Amino acid sequence: TPRVFSGIKPSGGLTLGNYLGAIKRFVGMQGQMQTIYCVVDLHAITVWQDPKALADMTREVAAGYLAAGLDPTQSILFNQSQVAAHAELAWIFNCVARVGWMNRMTQFKDKAGANAEKASLGLYAYPSLMAADILLYHATHVPVGEDQKQHVELTRDIAAKFNHDFKTDFFPMTEPVIEGPAMRIMNLRDGTKKMSKSGESDMERINMTDDADKIAKKLKKAKTDPEPLPETLDGLKDRPEARNLVEIYAALNETTAEAVIAEYAGAGWGRFKPALADLAVAKLAPIADEMGRLMADPAEIDRILGEGAQKAREIAQPVLAEAYDIVGLLRS
Ligand code: TYM
Repeated sequence: TPRVFSGIKPSGGLTLGNYLGAIKRFVGMQGQMQTIYCVVDLHAITVWQDPKALADMTREVAAGYLAAGLDPTQSILFNQSQVAAHAELAWIFNCVARVGWMNRMTQFKDKAGANAEKASLGLYAYPSLMAADILLYHATHVPVGEDQKQHVELTRDIAAKFNHDFKTDFFPMTEPVIEGPAMRIMNLRDGTKKMSKSGESDMERINMTDDADKIAKKLKKAKTDPEPLPETLDGLKDRPEARNLVEIYAALNETTAEAVIAEYAGAGWGRFKPALADLAVAKLAPIADEMGRLMADPAEIDRILGEGAQKAREIAQPVLAEAYDIVGLLRS
């Protein structure tokens, strides 16, 4: 049976990239298949997190999911550390995955930077824990942005090696679901860099908590080139900033970049940017308001996460138990 799993790290405020590349699509898959969504706090601590900020950020990510339309009666929503089976299966996968595989992970190289010797061992083993997240639920579909593709592919390699080593077909092959116009939203000040939670200037990203004024201001000040919008999609090649704004418009408006170009062919930024700002404010400001309302009641968020963890455990426990049996880990 098809089952969706995905996760978001509580390592900083949610951005428009997280919303368009992940959360909005997660909500769209609700009701069609079983959907399980996670706040991956164990992944967040692979780099230092202030303990109090981590707990607050875990709630903020949960609030982002809920404000965007995740319905806890239709989807399971929980934070990773409340379901111990994630860490337990990750250990088994640490013993299945090869050091050489981890060495090829581009995200480790990016995050560890020049001094990989000083990176945490957890950051290195990060993809093993991610494979455990996915395979504990026998998830078949994993909606992610472009930057997570390599990790989901590694999950397939880990599943295949486990199955091969233990002569089983226990773990399914997982598909990364990467489709639509917003799979890689770029920085608003530099179209060659990904929009991320941790960039230095607040003007380079839209946060899911930004109010209407901030959203409009950031989009109107977004870097562009001096040319008007092209007549065809092809004309966006080598214009990363222009392409990014068109893709943001398309994703927010639930259409394609092609349709946006058709509508705004030849338009100057003086016409396109205000239209984009209006659209973004109309779609995003109500979500920011709802996040604020939800975060005013942290106990309610904690309750939802606790209930979700309970449901997640019911699925994960038998899978972990069977994996232990397959490996020969004695339980008595
Ligand atoms: P994270 O927390 O960095 O990002 C969460 C999701 O948002 C997507 N995303 C973007 N999409 C488009 N444009 C952007 N600029 C952008 N920035 C982020 C990411 O691709 C991701 O889908 N390792 C994962 C979390 C994770 C996970 C998992 C995901 C842990 N276990 C299991 C799926 C399945 C991560 O760090 O995502």
